[in-house]
Amino acid sequence: MIENEMDFEGRLAAPEYIAGDNEIENSLRPKQLSEYIGQSKAKENLAIYIQAAKLRGEPLDHVLLYGPPGLGKTTLAGIVANELGVNIRITSGPAIEKQGDLVAILSNLENGDVLFIDEIHRLNRTVEEILYPAMEDGKIDIIIGKGPSARSFQLSLPKFTLIGATTRAGQISAPLRDRFGVILRLEMYTNEELAEIVKRSSRILNIPLDDEGAGLIASRSRGTPRIANRLLKRSRDFAEVKYEGVINKSAAEEALSSMDIDELGLDAIDRRLLSTMIRNYNGGPVGLETISAAIGEESVTIEDVYEPYLMQIGFLARTPRGRCVTPAGYKHLGIEFNNDNNNQQKLDL
Ligand code: ADE
Repeated sequence: MIENEMDFEGRLAAPEYIAGDNEIENSLRPKQLSEYIGQSKAKENLAIYIQAAKLRGEPLDHVLLYGPPGLGKTTLAGIVANELGVNIRITSGPAIEKQGDLVAILSNLENGDVLFIDEIHRLNRTVEEILYPAMEDGKIDIIIGKGPSARSFQLSLPKFTLIGATTRAGQISAPLRDRFGVILRLEMYTNEELAEIVKRSSRILNIPLDDEGAGLIASRSRGTPRIANRLLKRSRDFAEVKYEGVINKSAAEEALSSMDIDELGLDAIDRRLLSTMIRNYNGGPVGLETISAAIGEESVTIEDVYEPYLMQIGFLARTPRGRCVTPAGYKHLGIEFNNDNNNQQKLDL
């Protein structure tokens, strides 16, 4: 267990936050939509809604952002607040434990402010109930006391825009989801977009980065800017010690191989997941809980962190009977895919 935890903590290819991310992420975060690279659909839509809200002098409708971790949901929320010229208050579902916590946050907002709730699918039900009337009518009902002496009164709130973020749109309750006027899905980034992002970051961090170095980092970042920026930082260490401070192809290559990240951006845990499925379960179908027990990672982590990219690159398929490694997944690991072992049927979806 401890070994796995350490694996995960040290896992540079994980899109979740690890120590040290905040400080770089904050300095690299674009502040305006025009500086934000990629996500063109979400960006175009938001630009219109922001402009319309400003023209009407009204707060922006509530926005739900969903998609895999590390794609820039918090960054986008900050940009929206900045473009609207309002403050942003950042919190997360698990951080709001009691109704009173949310009441305190809501009543301290200023008119038009953005409230950003990350991992909104993890809000507890009683807290969620406060959010419904707050989102809909700008009011909350507060009950003070218990039993016959209980009194209820209504509190009017400042007008605000809720921006909710989640990796799991499916886990948001229908009443909450229905109260968002704008729902945007963030997509994984292309290699070209990621190369542009690391070039922008390198200019801000003052690290010389050549085209080949940028391309290499981009192609190993699993479609995720947070990983790209982390790999950039690691490559800088190699560049400074061995390559006269320039992140070129060799510096990036050496950094990546020292981190066991292969040519598709898979790390040791991704490869262990695939090879365990192949060696122990004949490539699948195998259930999520079984995989979780076999590799010692939590099933939610497997679902949110590892699987999205493995599915995106076509190495893993989710079927009604369980997960399967695809022929491309076998090929990447250098294991022969045997047509006779009935995998072909399983993948005949
Ligand atoms: N840094 C992280 N994500 C970014 C993005 N989408 N555009 C520009 N810089 C970023």
